[in-house]
Amino acid sequence: MTRRRQPDSHYKRAKAQGFAARSVFKLAEMDKRYGLVKPGHKVLDLGCHPGSWLQYAGGKVGKKGSVIGVDLQPPTVELMPWVEFVQADVLALTPEMFEGSAPFDLVLSDVAPRTTGVAHGDALASLELTEAAVDLALATLKPGGSLLAKVYFGPGVDDLIRRVKRAFKLGKGHKPGASRAASREIYILGRGLKNPSGKRNK
Ligand SMILES: C[S@@+](CC[C@H](N)C(=O)[O-])C[C@H]1O[C@@H](n2cnc3c(N)ncnc32)[C@H](O)[C@@H]1O
Repeated sequence: MTRRRQPDSHYKRAKAQGFAARSVFKLAEMDKRYGLVKPGHKVLDLGCHPGSWLQYAGGKVGKKGSVIGVDLQPPTVELMPWVEFVQADVLALTPEMFEGSAPFDLVLSDVAPRTTGVAHGDALASLELTEAAVDLALATLKPGGSLLAKVYFGPGVDDLIRRVKRAFKLGKGHKPGASRAASREIYILGRGLKNPSGKRNK
C-alpha cells in the first residue's frame, strides 16, 4: 500500500504563491544564505519538473539572463520567455549539447530517482544522477561559477563532497530547513569554481 503524504505548510504556501512545488523554499533559503542566483545570470536546472526552481530562477535572473531546464517530464507551469525546457535524461547529457548556451554562472540539480523504499538502492541511484550533474557542471560552468546539487545521503557522498571542495573555493553539504526531517536528501554546494578537474593538486 502506498501512503500519501499530508500537504504541509510549505506545500500550502507554495500553492498559494503560484509555485509548482514546495521545493522552491529549499532553493530560496539556500539562495538567501549563499547568494547563488543573480540578475543576468545564465542558469542550468537539472531535474526541473514540475518547475518551481525554473519559476524562482527565471524571476531572479530576469530577461537579461537565461535558464535552461532539463527533465524527463515537461514543466507543469508556464515558462518565462527567457526560460527554456529540454526533455532529456540527465545521464545522457554531454557538455557539447550546451555549446551554444554555456558557460553557465550556476548549475542547479534537484534531480532525484523514483524511490523504491530500499534506502541503499535509492541512495546509489541518486549518487549516479548527482555525479552526472557534478561532471556536467564542472565542464560547463564559468570560472567563479556555482553548483547546487541534491543527493540522498549514502555510500560515495562524502567522496563527492570532497571532490566539490577541491573544485570550488567553498564546498560543503547543506540540509535546508524546508527539507523534510525524515528525508535523507542533502544539497552539495560549490561556490566559486577554481579547479574544474576536481582532482587533487600535486
Ligand atoms: C524533486 S523533482 C524536481 C523538483 C523541481 N526542482 C521543482 O522545484 O519543481 C526531481 C525530478 O528529477 C527528474 N528526474 C529523475 N531522473 C531523471 C533523469 N534521469 N533525467 C532527467 N530528470 C530526471 C524527475 O522527473 C523529477 O521531475
